[in-house]
Amino acid sequence: MSDIKIWKGNSTFILAAAGSAVGLGNIWKFPYMVGSNGGSAFVIVYLICILVIGLPVMASEILIGKYGRKSPINSLKKLSKDLNLNKNWYFLGVLGAIAGLLILSYYSVFAGMAFSYIFKIFPSGLENPSNYSSNYFGSLSSSPVILIFWHSIFLFFTCLIVGFGVVKGIGRSVNILMPFLFIFLLAVSAYSAYVGDLKSTLNFLFFPNFSALTPEVILSAMGQAFFSLSIGMGAIMAYGAYMPEKQVIGKTVLTIIFLDTFVAIAAGIAIFPIVFSNEYLEISAGPGLIFETLPVAFYSLPFGELFSIIFFILISIAALSSSISLLEPFTAWIEERKIIKRKIIVLLLGLSTWILGLGSIFSFNIWSEITFLGLNFLELLDYLTNNIMLPLGGFLVAILVGWLISEDFLQKNIKMNHLQFSVFKFFLKYVSAGSIVLIFFYSVL
Ligand code: PFF
Repeated sequence: MSDIKIWKGNSTFILAAAGSAVGLGNIWKFPYMVGSNGGSAFVIVYLICILVIGLPVMASEILIGKYGRKSPINSLKKLSKDLNLNKNWYFLGVLGAIAGLLILSYYSVFAGMAFSYIFKIFPSGLENPSNYSSNYFGSLSSSPVILIFWHSIFLFFTCLIVGFGVVKGIGRSVNILMPFLFIFLLAVSAYSAYVGDLKSTLNFLFFPNFSALTPEVILSAMGQAFFSLSIGMGAIMAYGAYMPEKQVIGKTVLTIIFLDTFVAIAAGIAIFPIVFSNEYLEISAGPGLIFETLPVAFYSLPFGELFSIIFFILISIAALSSSISLLEPFTAWIEERKIIKRKIIVLLLGLSTWILGLGSIFSFNIWSEITFLGLNFLELLDYLTNNIMLPLGGFLVAILVGWLISEDFLQKNIKMNHLQFSVFKFFLKYVSAGSIVLIFFYSVL
């Protein structure tokens, strides 16, 4: 019997891939980056990057996974063997599997923090909720023990789902988690738009104001597009292996990208109206925006506590459906060697990631002064993964699929009409590959 696993129906693949894409990147990072990078200019450049880099690279990753029907490393091995390419292309998969664990180690720390806010109820009758909130965030980030506790809980759930496998664990859980996520997000956005300042938000997000456009804004918008779409490290490639044979890649990628962008914008509409309507809150508060600023804003509004809890449940669900995709590529690769059982593999990888996560936790407190090249452990890891590993992974995918694979093979596997195919190939070959080189050199040099 073949041991190839395929998800039933088209929707599971879409939910799983959208689940991977939609995460802290959309609900935590996107709003604070828009807030600190001048609003609409960032949004417009981000949307362009999603279309010209994100779409072709994501389609290529799915194509490789679907063709190989294995972990990214072994799918790349199969592809290069069948097409007589250099056999070292599988290193691209190794790079991605390692990047996944590195990202997961700090992703879980932030996700754990968001998770802890579900249980944090503000005492009533506070004179100064703003002070209380920043004190709370301060005490959370200065306590390694509390951070380790929430990091462990979040990682435990991630490992539990991945341990159950692709069909029972990942497939089933995204079918339950994702509809909740969309319902909660719509509820919080509608609530914020109703009680907050929607007009200023829409102006800020969409009224073109290119005076804020600088090379740094363009670069950070591109980096955010990579991270948000989960491309460049094989997460989407790993899921491509479980895509039903008949599912059409082009249409599916458009749906995933639409959902990811929709959630990022909806998260902006959930957060900014409240920030704009409160004179004490700063739109450019940075990474602390949802942890320090938002709870204060919710505190002073009708049913604010309920919506605050819903909001942090929403972030935790989104983070969980992303974190499982960070662990899957490495897990699938070792599982294919058929030496150790999946559950044991997940346990060992989870343990290694947990230990690595301690470094990020200590960067908030006891190791905050220890730096290398001016960056602490967490910043170093973030820099290494987002600025080096993901762009490099995306660039190599664009070179492999755009330049090295024959047109006949591509056309047969991607199943697009002539016009769609020409546009896809042109963008992948020149625009995506070219702009990734630009990001890479700008951010490294
Ligand atoms: N796309 C996720 C987010 O926006 O939070 C993060 C992520 C998941 C990045 C999986 C990379 C990845 F492979």
